[in-house]
Amino acid sequence: MTTLQNKRIVMGITGGIAAYKTIELIRLLRKVGAEVRVVLTPAAAEFVTPLTLQAISGNPVSQSLLDPQAELAMGHIELAKWAELVVIAPASADFIARLNVGMANDLLSTLCLAISAPILLAPAMNQRMYAQSVTQQNIHALRQRGMQFIGPNAGEQACGDVGYGRMSEPHEIFTAIENHFTVSQDLVGLNVVITAGPTQEAIDPVRYISNHSSGKMGFALAESFVQRGANVTLISGPVNLPTPAKVKRLDVLSAQQMWQVALESAVKNHLFIACAAVADYRVAEIAEQKIKKSGDEMQLRLIKNPDIVSDVGHLTEHRPFTVGFAAETQQVAQYAQDKLVRKKLDMICANDVSNGQVFGQDNNALTLYWAKGSIALPETSKAKLAQQVVNKIIERYHAK
Ligand code: C5P
Repeated sequence: MTTLQNKRIVMGITGGIAAYKTIELIRLLRKVGAEVRVVLTPAAAEFVTPLTLQAISGNPVSQSLLDPQAELAMGHIELAKWAELVVIAPASADFIARLNVGMANDLLSTLCLAISAPILLAPAMNQRMYAQSVTQQNIHALRQRGMQFIGPNAGEQACGDVGYGRMSEPHEIFTAIENHFTVSQDLVGLNVVITAGPTQEAIDPVRYISNHSSGKMGFALAESFVQRGANVTLISGPVNLPTPAKVKRLDVLSAQQMWQVALESAVKNHLFIACAAVADYRVAEIAEQKIKKSGDEMQLRLIKNPDIVSDVGHLTEHRPFTVGFAAETQQVAQYAQDKLVRKKLDMICANDVSNGQVFGQDNNALTLYWAKGSIALPETSKAKLAQQVVNKIIERYHAK
C-alpha cells in the first residue's frame, strides 16, 4: 500500500494555462489509489473541461457555489470536511490575492475559508506578476499562516517570457504531496536554531564586503526540521528567499549582529546549526560618510570577527548540540576535521567548493564528520540533502 492510498485530496484548479498539467497530476494521484475531487474556478473552466477532469478523477467536478444540484451531492461544507489536503494547482496571482484577504466569492475560495485541512499551493503566472511586490507579500502572508508552497520554477513560459513563474511539474507536486503525508512529527518539542546566508560588513554607508552564499542550504534545513515538528529559529543574513512556514526568522546583517542573536538563542535551544557563511573579518573603522575616490590605491584595515559556532561549541553551560559547515577548495577532509576539533563541534558538514558549483545552486553534496565517524552524502537537491543531514544530526544527537 502506498502512502497516498485512500487519501482524500481536493484538487483546486484556478485560471491559467498550466491547468493542462494538472490533468497529469490527478492521473498520478489516482494511479496510487488517492481519492481526488476537483474544484474548478470559473476562469479555470476556460482552460480545462469539467468532462475531462471528471473522467480522470473518477468523481463529479464541483464548479459553482450556487449550483443546487451540486450542493445536494456534496456541498462546500461537506467537501471541506471530506478533504485531508487541498492542493491548488495552478494557483493564479488573483487566487493567491483573494485567499490572502479571505474572499469567498467562488466555490474554491469559500472552501479554503471553511477548511481546517492543510493547503498546498503551486503558483503559476507570468514572471512579472510573480515578481510584483504585492504578489510576494501575499505569498509571504499565506506562508506565515501555515500554507505550503511548491515552486514556481524558473524557465520559459507559455507567453514567451523567461523567469520564475512556471508551475512545478506534475511529478514534483506529486512528490510534495507524498512528503506531506509521509513526514512524521517525531521532532515535536525539539528546539533548533540555524544560521544561514552571508553576512554584510559595512565599509561606509553605501558599500560592504560580503560573499556568494544564497542561504538555500540553511533554509532547506529549517524547512526539513519544521516539517518534522521541531521549533525552528532561523537567523538569516541578507538573502532573497521566502521564510518556510512556521519558522521564526530573525534577520541580521553583520557578523557581530549574527553573533549577538546566535549566542542569545543558542543557550535556549537543543541544537545549534551554523550554516551561515560568516565574514571572517570586518572593516576596522566604518566611514561615517561615503568614501571619496582619491589616489590609485586605497587600503582598508580589517579586524577579525568573532567565530560564532566556535563560541557556541565552547560554551560551558547550556551548550546545545553544535553542528558546523565547512566550505573548502582543497584538502576538504583534513580542514573539516581540524575545524571539528578546534571549534569543539559535535558534527561538521564539509562542502567541496573547488569547482565553484555550490553557491546559489539547487544541488549539493556533503561529507559529514563527527568524532568517530563520517558519511558521504552524494549530490542531490539541497532539499533532499537537508532531509538526510537532519536524519544524521538527530541520530548523533540521540547517540550523545
Ligand atoms: O572557519 P570557517 O569559516 O571555514 O568555518 C565555517 C563554519 O564556522 C561554518 O559553520 C560557519 O557558519 C561558522 N563560522 C561562524 N562564525 C565565523 C566564521 C565561521 O560561526 N565568524
